[in-house]
Amino acid sequence: MAVQRTLVLLKPDAVQRGLVGTILARFEAKGLKLVALKLRKFAPATFETHYEPHKGKPFYPGLVKYMSSAPVVALALEGVDAIEVVRGLMGATNARKAAPGTIRGDLGMSFSNNLVHGSDSPESAARELAIFFADSAEVLDWSPVATPWIYNVAEELS
Ligand code: RTP
Ligand code: MG
Repeated sequence: MAVQRTLVLLKPDAVQRGLVGTILARFEAKGLKLVALKLRKFAPATFETHYEPHKGKPFYPGLVKYMSSAPVVALALEGVDAIEVVRGLMGATNARKAAPGTIRGDLGMSFSNNLVHGSDSPESAARELAIFFADSAEVLDWSPVATPWIYNVAEELS
């Protein structure tokens, strides 16, 4: 059990379909803490770096083009085991096969236009957060009043 920060992207399809509020509400309702948020049309170079681990794969050029074609929302979320928790909420990559109850399972029909990205490991989270929130002042330390109601603080946060 560790408090982690993770990068989440609401992809162009989420923004274009007006699902930013719906998806953000799921992360908030789960109890994840929002520590950074921005809406921006990022340059292709940003996604070339972000998706560097997929460089050379057939879908890489199209993915970079798609992600830079329209605005994206970048979030940093914090919580105990936040990386795994967020990946679970997102569901399987192919939205058609993602389980009902997950974001992709409930809201999507596509493999490529699958609404959200979430970092897949602590190493990825650190690397990706530095890309989208290069200015660390954009990531806020703050104390939600609900924290002691979301967690057993003595058992889970100390
Ligand atoms: P993400 O990185 O976006 O959170 O999604 P993921 O871990 O579930 O999937 P990943 O394997 O990392 O792939 C990154 C994104 O690339 C697109 N993709 N298309 N056409 C294809 O074969 C293919 N494979 C991957 C998807 O949009 C996927 O989310
Ligand atoms: Mg991935």
